[in-house]
Amino acid sequence: MLKGSKLTRNFLNLSDINKSQLMGILKRAIDLKKYRKKNKNPATLRNINLAMIFEKPSTRTRVSFELAIKELGGRSIILDEATTHLSRGETISDTARVLSKYCNILMIRTTNHKKLIEYHRYSKLPVINGLSNISHPCQILADIMAYNEKRGSIRDRKFVWMGDLNNVLFSWVEAANIFNFSLNICFPKLMKVSKGLKEKIKTYSNNVKIFHNTKLACKDSDCIITDTWFSMGKKPTNKLIKVFKPYQVNEKIMSIAKKNAVFMHCLPATRGNEVTEEVIDNSRYSLVWSEAENRLHIQKAILEWCLKKI
Ligand code: CP
Ligand code: NVA
Repeated sequence: MLKGSKLTRNFLNLSDINKSQLMGILKRAIDLKKYRKKNKNPATLRNINLAMIFEKPSTRTRVSFELAIKELGGRSIILDEATTHLSRGETISDTARVLSKYCNILMIRTTNHKKLIEYHRYSKLPVINGLSNISHPCQILADIMAYNEKRGSIRDRKFVWMGDLNNVLFSWVEAANIFNFSLNICFPKLMKVSKGLKEKIKTYSNNVKIFHNTKLACKDSDCIITDTWFSMGKKPTNKLIKVFKPYQVNEKIMSIAKKNAVFMHCLPATRGNEVTEEVIDNSRYSLVWSEAENRLHIQKAILEWCLKKI
C-alpha cells in the first residue's frame, strides 16, 4: 500500500516533521511504554518487515529497533554494509529496489546523509535516519521523553550543549526551535562550525546561542548535555583532548547549573573525557539510562508513525 505513495512518511530530520506529529510520536511512546510494562504490547506492525542497514557500529539503535519491530508483531533483517554487496560496489539504487521487494520500511545508519534520500528515492519505502553524519533525530525524541518524565515540559527550559559540534547537537538545535526551549552551545573557540550547523544556528537564533565560557553558558541551566568528543570515524588525538578538557562535564560544571538540573548523554560515553564517572553515575540527576531505555519506546512510535498507524 505504501509503495509508490507520494505521501510516504520518512523520519530523516526533526525539522521535516510538524510539531503536532512529533508530539503524537512522544505521546504514543509513553503509552507503548505502559503497555510493555503490563506485558501487553499491541500487534500494530504484524507482518511488517523492517530492514536495517548499518554502515557504522551500534548497540542501542540496533537492539532497540530490533526489539521494537518484533514486540509489535513484525520482523527485522539486519544488514551490516560490509557483509553485503554494497561493499563490493553494488549501487544503492539497485540495493534499494531489491529491498523494496522484501521489506516495508528501512532504517539506515550512514556516513553520508544523502544516502538516506537515495534509499527512499529508489525503494519508495519509508526511511528512518538511525544516525547520519548530519543528525540523529530518533535519539533526541527519546531524550525529550526522558526529560519530560523526570522534570515535565521542556518548553522555556534552558539547556546547555557542551563539547563537540556533531550530529546529535544538530538534532538538538532543531528540537530547540520546534519545542521552544533555549539551547546554549558551549565549545572551544578554535573549533570550526560546519556550514550546515552555522546556518541552522542562524535560522534559530531566537532559541540557540553560542558560548565559549562554560560558567556563562551553564549558569541557571536546567539540563547539561554532552556527547563523545570523537564521533565514529573521527580519530582521537591528545591535542584535541587537551582542547576539549575545559568542556568536560564534571561536578563543578553541574554545580553552576540549577539545583535540580539534569545531565544527558546519548551514549556511548568515554568516561574521563567528556564526562566524569561522578556525573554520569549520579542517580539523582543523570538521565542516561532512561534515555537509552526510551529509545525502544520511541522507535516503536516512529515505526508506527512512518507506517501511518498513528
Ligand atoms: N545513542 C546511540 O545511537 O547509540 P548506538 O550507537 O549504540 O546505537
Ligand atoms: N556523535 C556520536 C553519536 C553516537 C550515538 C557519533 O556519531 O559517533
